[in-house]
Amino acid sequence: ADRGSEATVDAASTLTRLGVVGCGLMGSGIAEVAAKAGLDVAVREIDEAAAAAGRARLTTSLDRGVRGGKLSEADRDAVLGRLSFTTDLGDFADRDVVIEAVAENEQLKADIFGALDKVVTRPDAIFASNTSSIPIAKLGMATSRPEQVVGIHFFNPVPVQKLVEIVPSLLTSPETAQAAQDFATGRLGKEVIRSQDRAGFVVNSLLVPYLLAAVRMLESGFAAAADIDRGMVLGCAHPMGPLALCDLIGLDTIKAVAESMYEEFKEPLYAPPPLLMRMVDAGLLGKKSGRGFHSYP
Ligand code: CAA
Repeated sequence: ADRGSEATVDAASTLTRLGVVGCGLMGSGIAEVAAKAGLDVAVREIDEAAAAAGRARLTTSLDRGVRGGKLSEADRDAVLGRLSFTTDLGDFADRDVVIEAVAENEQLKADIFGALDKVVTRPDAIFASNTSSIPIAKLGMATSRPEQVVGIHFFNPVPVQKLVEIVPSLLTSPETAQAAQDFATGRLGKEVIRSQDRAGFVVNSLLVPYLLAAVRMLESGFAAAADIDRGMVLGCAHPMGPLALCDLIGLDTIKAVAESMYEEFKEPLYAPPPLLMRMVDAGLLGKKSGRGFHSYP
């Protein structure tokens, strides 16, 4: 390695205090992985009830590790000891890295980046978003330090999936992108790929049209949900079928990602089909709501 990259590895090694904004499906997974890796993790949720739900989600996932023999009870307690929950972004003043993982809503995310910019004191702190489809450049522009804003995009379930997409915007400095990459690999133990700042990045650009095609196939009466899923599991060795994967990701998230990609490219293959829209309208969001294309008792 040249001296430049040694310097950035050193920079990443000083990134020990992480803030996670949002403790839903993705935020809780990110917080869990980071706390398991020994980082000091502060999690912010919107109110006490949401914070309690986030803590419960995280504890359930850790308990699953204990039951499966992957984590001792003492380790679980140590991990929980490295996690703190707050409803006040002001508590993020001392964070070295913040990862935003709230719903796929551009205004909401921009407001959070604006607020973080005012609160976080470290001059070279990293401001990251787990967005899968909102331009990193727009989130950067909501701050006074767009060169420190970068996409760090995780995959669901975060503790299981190895990949992280690193997404520098046109304004992100090479130092920030490299530090984010070193943080994801060296600190969190993930594998990285790089993507340009285009809606969907690399993985969702390939995945989302496939998922939407499965929904259209069901919608048109072409095949039954169980057969579509069995087809891809048994025919292509996917770990789960496309409709079960929609249920895992959350239909509201799929809809939001598809809409961002449609807005970006104006290509019909990204347009969310009416069945997906109606299921979201009806609160059938997949696994997290108990019913989507399949049921989860
Ligand atoms: N936390 C920790 N560990 C978990 C876990 C969780 N939430 N869920 C599963 N695991 C672990 C299990 O403990 C188990 O580990 P061992 O094999 O060591 O015992 C392993 O993962 C497999 O779990 P299961 O046996 O319970 O279930 P499975 O074999 O059916 O796997 C799955 C479940 C991991 C979800 C698998 O089906 C899978 O990988 N599916 C594809 C998921 C996928 O494509 N994700 C990407 C979605 S796209 C996205 O996230 C990006 C976006 O922007 C929309």
